[in-house]
Amino acid sequence: WEVQNTDFYRPAYHHTPSYGWMNDPNGMFYKDGVYHLCYQYNPYGSKWGNMHWGHAVSRDLVHWEQQAPALLRDTMGHIYSGSAVVDKDGTAGYGKDAVVALYTSASDENGQIQCMAYSTDGGYHFTKYEGNPILRPFDGLKDFRDPKVFWYEPSKKWFMIVSADKEMRFYSSPNLKDWTYVSAFGQGYGAQPNQFECPDFIQMPVEGKPNKKKWVMIVNINPGCLFGGSATEYFVGDFDGTKFTCDTPPSVAKFLDYGKDHYATVCFSNTGNRVLAMAWMSNWQYANITPIKQYRGANTLARELRLYEKDGQYYLSSDVVPEAKVLRKNKRVLNVGTVPNAHVVKDVNTNYDNAFELEMEITPGKNGIAGLELFNAKGEKVNIYIDLKAKRVVMDRTQSGLTDFGKKAEPHDIEKAFDAQTIKDGQEIMRKRNAVNYQNDFALGTWAPLNLCQGPTYKVDVWVDKCSIEIFVDGGRISMTNLVFPKKPYTDVRFYAQGAPAKFDNVKIYRLAQ
Ligand code: FRU
Repeated sequence: WEVQNTDFYRPAYHHTPSYGWMNDPNGMFYKDGVYHLCYQYNPYGSKWGNMHWGHAVSRDLVHWEQQAPALLRDTMGHIYSGSAVVDKDGTAGYGKDAVVALYTSASDENGQIQCMAYSTDGGYHFTKYEGNPILRPFDGLKDFRDPKVFWYEPSKKWFMIVSADKEMRFYSSPNLKDWTYVSAFGQGYGAQPNQFECPDFIQMPVEGKPNKKKWVMIVNINPGCLFGGSATEYFVGDFDGTKFTCDTPPSVAKFLDYGKDHYATVCFSNTGNRVLAMAWMSNWQYANITPIKQYRGANTLARELRLYEKDGQYYLSSDVVPEAKVLRKNKRVLNVGTVPNAHVVKDVNTNYDNAFELEMEITPGKNGIAGLELFNAKGEKVNIYIDLKAKRVVMDRTQSGLTDFGKKAEPHDIEKAFDAQTIKDGQEIMRKRNAVNYQNDFALGTWAPLNLCQGPTYKVDVWVDKCSIEIFVDGGRISMTNLVFPKKPYTDVRFYAQGAPAKFDNVKIYRLAQ
């Protein structure tokens, strides 16, 4: 499953299939010191189709080793997304510690039905259950997929959460084979219009209050992204073994990442106290036409999720896992310091072949803008900045390089019903887009609300890898993931301030390599 890379944009340190198409990470679990990452995979070409579960393993969440696909497409249809659990007590009948995978079979004839496979060799080889399917929609629903299974200790039962178009349905089971419908959640909730996909459901302690636990439902929506297309949102609330109750009213939408290329996020199972997630770095608006040939699709760096409280509400932070620090090779300390209220201050030659990390603390001046531009000699640039007046963190990729992949944009979803503030913001984005005449869905800026962070100093961590940029502010209280396709690597960094002098402290740059 290894081939020689021929793609200019292939990431240096993110997981990609060596050949073929990839979308959602799915069926992820941890066992015997090994992280198993399965994913939606077409081994026959670099566009969506013939869905299998690809498979890669890692001991550190950073170095991935390709395996043969875990599940091959069969006569029941495509193998769509799902999950995998370690069946510690052998409830399914395959012995203690068997790995059980739950997935959706999808075809025109059968619709979308849930199936099962098991592994008794630690998760390397799977056998499909002879009694498949194990679950069909009770109402013939067309969109019924992406089962996520978890053990619920108080009732000593398995639960499955399945995305069912505009809601998520809960089922329970003693043995992972016989499933009983329990309840549903989601109608009218969150960013609209939406179709829910790839749900996850996790109990998490609140940071700083180890005894306070909440349930978090992660759901991926397409469409519904603030900037068009696909995005990951989440709901925080309580679960009593029957029903999920959300803390916030239906109109509230919380996003896990504020970029445009962060989708299908789900977590690894069996990771103890850590909540570890990965997302697919693309957007269904243009996923099939990005300027890549041999393979298509990369996953984000593994992220560690934490739940924190801010102004009486609960939010998820999503930070890059500390394991990723092994990628740091050379370190350079940059003395930037106070940047006056002028534009160009420092050009720093990075020359790290578009695989580098920039870490710093930024203190914007009163009502000012403080930012950094990554750029190259072709005039291509990405502008990342904190705007205190607009109270936003922004990543602008309008001039990042290739932005038009030869297909007209799909219509925007943005004016549809969010909560009042979001509608306003959404319309503002549309106005700005029209004003600068963006050609398509790719050439835009994405932004996140700064009030998720504390200030007045913001810790900013920027990870660049060939065709992606992930930024983490204040340990992931804001994360933002966007693809970029510069014709030449960004070789320079420019720190700047506008409106008021800003401070850039502890600025470090690392070359990154595996
Ligand atoms: C999400 C998704 C899933 C589905 C899979 C098919 O990106 O649409 O809902 O299982 O992709 O590849």
